[in-house]
Amino acid sequence: MTDYKSMEELKEFLHDSALVITGKKIYGLYKDIFPENTLILPVGENAKTLTVVKKILEEMHTRGLNVSDTVVAVGGGAIGDTVGFAASIYHRGMPWINVPTTLLSLCDSSVGGKTSVNFMGCKNVIGSFWNPTKRIVCKKFLNTLSKKQLASGLGEIIKTSFLNADFYGYVKNTYKLYEYDKQALFAAAIEASRIKAKIVAKDFRCESIRNNLNIGHTIGHALEAAYKYEHGIAVCMGIQIAMEMFKDSIERGFLEEARVMCRRLAKIPNFSADKLITFLRADKKNRNGDIVLLLPVRPGDTIPVNLKEEKFYALLQKLEEELKA
Ligand code: GLY
Repeated sequence: MTDYKSMEELKEFLHDSALVITGKKIYGLYKDIFPENTLILPVGENAKTLTVVKKILEEMHTRGLNVSDTVVAVGGGAIGDTVGFAASIYHRGMPWINVPTTLLSLCDSSVGGKTSVNFMGCKNVIGSFWNPTKRIVCKKFLNTLSKKQLASGLGEIIKTSFLNADFYGYVKNTYKLYEYDKQALFAAAIEASRIKAKIVAKDFRCESIRNNLNIGHTIGHALEAAYKYEHGIAVCMGIQIAMEMFKDSIERGFLEEARVMCRRLAKIPNFSADKLITFLRADKKNRNGDIVLLLPVRPGDTIPVNLKEEKFYALLQKLEEELKA
């Protein structure tokens, strides 16, 4: 469920909440809306640790929270993931509300109840499925996002469009998106999150069709880890690399259009297959020695690719050489 609120309404709501948690950056930008006893977490991936989870649990316990109270997370994906995870294990499950503040969290992580923290250098290894009772959307947060943050959200919007033929047509033809028009990006992010919610409703625990939301993520996560790209930008690059590696399986017209759409955001960067394979080897989607990914083959349609590491590496290396030539 999504509630839309103005900044004033959000401020009032936060002041009536049992525990409000946010990141240092959002607190610095929007100090006025937060109650005095707001818990402030480190920025970005630095929040996604068990140490921070312990801090949240201590705060919940010290304040005597119980399951009739609500915890509110105000922030991007990292804050939502961490607070959601702490909420999922406190008293075997506390209600929580997610207030996404980035385009990326608006269109993706604020929907679907995947919560997680990183562990021993690997992303999202510890987590749970624990839906927020609702999310509150306040469009004003878009005003303080950098172009890089908007681009990251746009990467996930393009990804979602590959899963839905109607939305694909819209994203392909709406040039304002690629000019980073905030109205257009907001509308597209809301639509992307609706499409995601429909998929999640059919497969909450990611056992079947929810895996489609992972297109671009196998290679994208490796690029993100190896070269520190923003998540959505890495996903958009990951989609392109996967499509080039397995282009013979993709409908020709779609391949060409998808290339154009993705390149408006980011081209395939120079990469080292050697470097990427070390991260791909550790991907949590791998099964029985195979590297696993979902490949978009036409708008609204994907196929699974399961390939032995050596074969995957050979294809990746071939593409690396072709790009250098
Ligand atoms: N970001 C993919 C999912 O929520 O399933």
